[in-house]
Amino acid sequence: MLSEIRKHLPGHPWQDKIQYFDTLDSTNTYAKQLALQGAAAGTVIIAGHQTGGRGRLGRSFSSPAGMGIYMSVILRPDCRPEELMHLTCAAGLAACNAIEETLGIFPGIKWTNDLVLSRKKLGGILTELSVNPASGKVEWAVVGIGINCCQKAGQFPPEIQDIACSLGIEPGQTPPLSASLIAALENMSRNLLAEKNHIMEAFSRRCITVGSEISILRGDEVQHATAIGIEENGGLLVQYPDGSKGVITSGEVSIRGMYGYL
Ligand code: BTN
Repeated sequence: MLSEIRKHLPGHPWQDKIQYFDTLDSTNTYAKQLALQGAAAGTVIIAGHQTGGRGRLGRSFSSPAGMGIYMSVILRPDCRPEELMHLTCAAGLAACNAIEETLGIFPGIKWTNDLVLSRKKLGGILTELSVNPASGKVEWAVVGIGINCCQKAGQFPPEIQDIACSLGIEPGQTPPLSASLIAALENMSRNLLAEKNHIMEAFSRRCITVGSEISILRGDEVQHATAIGIEENGGLLVQYPDGSKGVITSGEVSIRGMYGYL
């Protein structure tokens, strides 16, 4: 697997920093351990199977053997955490671009971190970062990407069967896609700060949440609104039924007509 992926990245700066494991609990957890031990930016961790794949908001990410891409990358951007609020958006965009270039499939993004195809969840992004308390700067960021690749209808766990989908590719097509993802992430890491505006414009075009009726869940409180745009730091601009506007930066946002929200 590793040699297959490397073959597609000749001369690439991250080519020798890719590590492959048949099984890990979570590539993000392992990448965080390596980052703490000083692993270099561009270290890529890939697992064939995750026993404890993690998603946003403490959720799990189903990661069966040979069915998907489960990858995490260590980044060390020289900036403050406030400058990196768009990292999850940028990584989602990079993943969409890689999928499009490799397979000709055009996924969308459900704000903020779900990759979607035909209004079903294709995968997701989980970013985690550490800040140096003395400098106030980012010490490391780990960007995790999970993509359902090979599942066929009926092969998802019952609890996500109705909301999940896969790329529907053969296992042999995943190494070139993994390589393309690595290249897209390296490209993203170089342009992350200088090209923030362009990245967020492209993200807005990919984001299927914009223009949709949504519900926002914060604790026990549910609010309804229309998503009207994405702001520069990745926040979701919304308009409430009374005409007032706001920016959502956290919490759970559901789109009417998706994932069982009627
Ligand atoms: C989500 O659905 O909220 C995000 C899912 C992110 C899953 C990926 S798989 C590789 C990396 N390792 C993890 O444990 N999670 C991310």
